[in-house]
Amino acid sequence: MTETAILMVGDQRIELPVIEGAEGEKAIDMSSLLAKTGMTSYDPALGNTSICKSAITYIDGDKGILRYRGIPVEEFTTQPKPNFVEVAWLLIFGKLPTLQELAEFREQLTTHELLHEDVKDQFQHIPADAPPMAILSATLNHLACVHKEHLVVDNSTMMLESVASLISQVRTIAAFSYRRSMGLPYIYPDPNLRYCANFLHMMFSLPYKQYIITPEIEDALNLLFILHADHEQNCSTSAVRTVGSAGANLFASCAAGVSALWGPLHGGANVEVMQMLERIHQGGISPEQCVRDAKDKSNPFRLFGFGHRIYRNFDPRAKILKEACDKVLCKIDRHDPLLEIAQRLEELALKDDYFIERKLYPNVDFYSGILLHAIGIPTDMFTVCFAIGRLPGWIAQWKEQNEDAGRRIIRPRQVYTGNVQTSYVSIEKR
Ligand code: SDX
Repeated sequence: MTETAILMVGDQRIELPVIEGAEGEKAIDMSSLLAKTGMTSYDPALGNTSICKSAITYIDGDKGILRYRGIPVEEFTTQPKPNFVEVAWLLIFGKLPTLQELAEFREQLTTHELLHEDVKDQFQHIPADAPPMAILSATLNHLACVHKEHLVVDNSTMMLESVASLISQVRTIAAFSYRRSMGLPYIYPDPNLRYCANFLHMMFSLPYKQYIITPEIEDALNLLFILHADHEQNCSTSAVRTVGSAGANLFASCAAGVSALWGPLHGGANVEVMQMLERIHQGGISPEQCVRDAKDKSNPFRLFGFGHRIYRNFDPRAKILKEACDKVLCKIDRHDPLLEIAQRLEELALKDDYFIERKLYPNVDFYSGILLHAIGIPTDMFTVCFAIGRLPGWIAQWKEQNEDAGRRIIRPRQVYTGNVQTSYVSIEKR
C-alpha cells in the first residue's frame, strides 16, 4: 500500500505519493504538485529537495555514514594499498572491477594519458599565475575540441574511452599547469607508473632527476582521491547533472563541475582552511580569535572546513583524514605545526555552544590541506586535487542520469518578485 502525504490547499485535499529509498529514507513525490494545485514548491537552496534517484552514493548525515555503491568509505581506506582507480571503476560502472577489468582500465588510462600537443601548447598562452581551477575548467573544454570522438558516448566502448581519457588526462592537465606556473619543463607521463605515482612524477620530477615516490606518499594520495571521489548531489555534482540534462557532453558537464567546485564554500574551502591555519601560524590571529570571528554575525569570516549541509555529525572523511595526517607526517618524519593548530581549532569549536547548537563539525576540507601539504602539493593546487578525486563521481552521476530513460532537462521554476506589468518609456521622457 503506497503511503501518501496529504496537502490541504484551501479546501482542496491533495494526495501526494511518498517514495522510499533503499535505506528507508522517504520523500514526498512532488512531480504532480503543479498539475494538481497550480502551485510550485519553494525551496531556495534545495535543502529540502531530492532532485533525482541515484544508486551511486549514500550519505546519512546524522550517523556520519558515507558509502560508495553500498561499501562504507572506511573500507577502502583500511586496505593495505588504497586504490583510487578501482574505486573510480566501482562508482562509474556500479561494481568492483575484476582483475581483467582493472587491467584493461589501467591500459586505457595509459593509452590516454598524453595530452594532445595543441592542448599542451595552450599552456604557453596562459599567464603563469592564472588560477589553476580556471585552467582546469577551460582545458577540459579544450579536450572536447581535440577529442571530438569522445563527445558522443553511444556504447560501452565509447563510454570507457571517454572515461579513461578524462580521468587520465585530468592529471596531466593539472601537472602541466603547475609546471607552467613554476617555469619548469613539462614532464611527460610515464606508462610504467600507476595513477597516483604518475601524477606525482609529472608534478615533481626533473628532466635530469626522477622524483622518488615513497609508498607512504603514494598511498596518501590514493586515500585523498578516494575520499573525494563522490558525495551524492553536492553543488558541483548538481552542476554536472544540470548541464548534462541538456544533452551536453561529458567534457562540458565536468568543466561545469570544476567551476562550481572552485567556490570557497565548496571545494575551494581547502585552500581557505590552509590560509586560515597559516595566518594563525604566522601570528596574525589566535585560534581563539578565529572562533570568535566565525561566531560574530557582523563578521563575514567563517571557520572554513567546518559545517556541512548534510552532516550533523562528524564527516567520516574528516575523521579518516585527521588520522592519516598523523600517520603520514610520522612516517615521513615531518612535523607540521599547522596540524596542531587545526586540532586546537577543532577542540575549541567542538566545545563551543555556537558550533554545538548548529551541529557544525569538521568537514572533508578541514584536514585535507594538511595531507596535501605533506605530500608536497602547493596550496593553490588543493582544489585541483579535489577535482581529480571527484571526477569519477561526476562521471558516474552524469552517466547514471544519461542512462535514465525518463530523464528530462533540469529546469526549476521561481517565485517572481519583480515589477508587475509596466510600459516602455522613451529616453526623452526618462
Ligand atoms: C564541501 O555538499 C557537499 O557534499 C560538499 C562536500 C562534497 O564532498 O562535495 O562535502 C565538499 O563543499 C564541504 C564544505 C566546505 N565548505 C566550507 O568548509 C565552508 C565553511 N562552511 C560553511 O560555509 C557552511 O557550513 C556550508 C557552506 C558548508 C553549509 O552551508 P549551509 O548548509 O547553507 O549552512 P548555513 O550557511 O545555513 O549555516 C547554518 C548556520 C548559520 O548560522 P545561523 O544563521 O543559524 O545563525 O551555521 C552557521 C551559519 O552562519 N555556519 C557557520 C559555519 N557553517 C555554518 N558559522 C561559522 N563558520 C562556519 N563554517
